[in-house]
Amino acid sequence: MADATSMEKLVSLAKRRGFVFQSSEVYGGLGSVWDYGPLGVALKRNIKDRWWRSLVQSRDDIEGLDAAILMHPRVWEASGHVSGFTDPMVDCRTCKSRFRADKLADARCPQKPSKVPGQHTACDLTEPRQFNLMFKTFMGPVEESAAVIYLRPETAQGTYVNYQNVLNSSRQKIPFGIAQIGKAFRNEITPGNFIFRTREFEQMEMQFFVRPGTDDEWFERWRAVRMAWHEGLGLTPSKLRWHQHGPDELAHYAKAAFDIEYEFPFGWQEIEGIHNRTDFDLRRHQEYSGKKLEYFEQASGERYLPFVVETAAGADRVTLTVMADAYREEVVEAELRVVMGFTPQVAPVKAAVLPLVKKDGMPELALALYHDLREKMPADYDDGGAIGRRYRRQDEIGTPWCVTIDGETAAQRTVTIRHRDSMEQDRVSLDQVRHWLLERLG
Ligand code: GAP
Repeated sequence: MADATSMEKLVSLAKRRGFVFQSSEVYGGLGSVWDYGPLGVALKRNIKDRWWRSLVQSRDDIEGLDAAILMHPRVWEASGHVSGFTDPMVDCRTCKSRFRADKLADARCPQKPSKVPGQHTACDLTEPRQFNLMFKTFMGPVEESAAVIYLRPETAQGTYVNYQNVLNSSRQKIPFGIAQIGKAFRNEITPGNFIFRTREFEQMEMQFFVRPGTDDEWFERWRAVRMAWHEGLGLTPSKLRWHQHGPDELAHYAKAAFDIEYEFPFGWQEIEGIHNRTDFDLRRHQEYSGKKLEYFEQASGERYLPFVVETAAGADRVTLTVMADAYREEVVEAELRVVMGFTPQVAPVKAAVLPLVKKDGMPELALALYHDLREKMPADYDDGGAIGRRYRRQDEIGTPWCVTIDGETAAQRTVTIRHRDSMEQDRVSLDQVRHWLLERLG
């Protein structure tokens, strides 16, 4: 996968096989908003569950939270988003297109031949203007300035304003973290690249509260943990790298920031940010709310505002990463085979049960096995068409194993299990299939 064609193929497979559809497609679509189909929702859920398990379920020092999308408007004044969450934007008076002023070199003018905006003689660009990325709406029936509220542009603020609630209601002491998965909204000027940059997306964010002075050490620890998590998704290691933010890139709240980047067909791009947010957010909420947010450390008898190390990933972006990394084409017996080589733990369907033919009791045996497997894992049943075509269909949706019920199954109580990647087949006893699969799923 090295070019625009690869993205086109991925987008086309995503639609054809029910991973991702354009929002409101029957009305011509809504710009940069996407819907997840049956397989896409399963894949994304597997990724989110994996994140939740690794941070909340399997650790003693992190609690979960699900804060509301709508928050008091003062939150966004305190966080700096009302005044500072902006991108510089330019408009072209000729073609009426809108571009990010700081990303003009990467943009293309819609006039032909395609050039950087400003390079055609007809281009007539405005001066850059700052454009706030938050979506605004009104609370209640009256559309007036006092009723303005925002759709949250990050989940993190819901965590900061609940940090004391979580602390008081759990048995946590600093250092500890709060993890959250939820929707965020940004009115991006130049969204694009399928589900990479969208206006509505889901974040998986964790804020880790630490004693000031220990923040650098925790920052390094979290960097290692998060990179290992991405590697555990089965991503190609050479396509993952770090990008350290220089002083001109750092967000207003950050003392240090590293991005985990992945090499997409459209280049290296951020999939997760690890930020040392200092005590910026808690200090600002303390100031704007007038409520003390200090932590009392019993062992030392000291009071302080904790520093925060944040790990912030996009669920949609990680889903795209997993899909782009999984996509491959091979020629097998002079025919093209498209495979989504998902690691079994994130694959939307773990096993497909296929009767070789629709007679001789095979469908009955296959259905019984399928119902048995379904209790433990997402499984599929398919009895339509030639077996080779059914294998190809499962390859394209990334099913790691196909279990075939054939002529020997009834007499010998055995099946074949075909491996998606090697296409090799094992003969396994029928009553062992469930155990065989569960063992490999871990
Ligand atoms: N709380 C910090 C924060 O929001 P960010 O780097 O702006 O930091 C974190 O966002 C992650 O959210 C990004 O690494 C990316 O994966 C995802 N993300 C941000 N904007 C996005 C967008 N417009 N579409 C899809 N994902 C996005």
